[in-house]
Amino acid sequence: MKKIALATVAVAAAAALALTGCSSDRGASTGGSSEAAKGFAADSTIGVALPDKTSENWVLAGSLFEDGLKDAGFKGDVQYAPASNTVAEQQNQISAMVTNGAKVIVIGAKDGKQLGTQLQQAADAGVKIIAYDRLIENTPNVDYYVAFDNFKVGQLQGQALLEGLEKRSGHAAPWNIELFSGSPDDANAAVFFNGAMDVLQPKIDDGTLVVKSGQTEVAQTATQGWKAENAQSRMDSLLTSNYSSDAIDGVLSPNDTLARAIITSTKQAGKDISKVTVTGQDSEVESVKSIMAGEQYSTINKDTTLLVEQTIKMIGELQKGDEAEVNDTEQYDNGEKVVPAYLLAPVIVTKDNAAEAYKNNPNLLDIVNAAS
Ligand code: BGC
Repeated sequence: MKKIALATVAVAAAAALALTGCSSDRGASTGGSSEAAKGFAADSTIGVALPDKTSENWVLAGSLFEDGLKDAGFKGDVQYAPASNTVAEQQNQISAMVTNGAKVIVIGAKDGKQLGTQLQQAADAGVKIIAYDRLIENTPNVDYYVAFDNFKVGQLQGQALLEGLEKRSGHAAPWNIELFSGSPDDANAAVFFNGAMDVLQPKIDDGTLVVKSGQTEVAQTATQGWKAENAQSRMDSLLTSNYSSDAIDGVLSPNDTLARAIITSTKQAGKDISKVTVTGQDSEVESVKSIMAGEQYSTINKDTTLLVEQTIKMIGELQKGDEAEVNDTEQYDNGEKVVPAYLLAPVIVTKDNAAEAYKNNPNLLDIVNAAS
């Protein structure tokens, strides 16, 4: 696998060189991997293109980038894609950032497969691209990826689900579960799901876990747009079709927004939520409250402050003309190349370790303390 990926990189690099060779002299200043980077002015403009605000982490990231880039001496140009016409609007925002002279563009992609044209435009202008939180696919023009380890997030969710089933269901295996994944246009969705299935599939195979709907493929479990209403209506129909007389013991939910929608649906169907294990991700305020109240079982802490700090550190390295430091050069093959990545470690949170997990987050710690 790795050999094939590396061969692909070599071919892509050769193609990039060939292209540079064909272009005018200006090609010499483009961001080809072979040339030594020269850095850029310390007060340059840095573009940050974020997706629509589908969870609290995206809302927080915008203000952290505004402040952090300013403190680092850069001019930040931080923009969100609006909720409608999101893909096209984000494409336009990125194009405009290139035209306006950004030296680095940080992108939280709305649709990671639809930025090829804009990133070619960026590469031609020598702009470095950092994929933030979500991988950008099918283009060679992504220089770096910075994220929490998404596969690990999924594995932790799978482990939390098994742990919760033991603790809460009130009976021994087999346990009935259903599976949800995120939006298919977000590369993270499949990675979270695959990480979780790495833990859950063997237990489905040996009969410990039963998925009564039979829906175990990522496409069958998808939640378009990461929208709560889509998860809630899928959960409503799963419950009506499969659990009118049987118990539902657990639900793999990829994030907190969807977890709360799944919990609402489960309660409306008259189920005792204290016996059902629902996972999550993002440590959203309402979900931390729900965990402390004994409803949602788990979430994941991905500290947005740390992720934004790491991104700004990488931008600082690029400004000096250095390569940005990475800690993974194997996992994130985007279909064109393995994107060098800096991955941070996610932390699983349940009621039991919430005080410890949020000890550096006064807002969440208050919620935990108020409930304990
Ligand atoms: C992020 C998650 C988030 C989801 C929906 C994903 O790409 O990694 O943290 O829950 O988007 O906003």
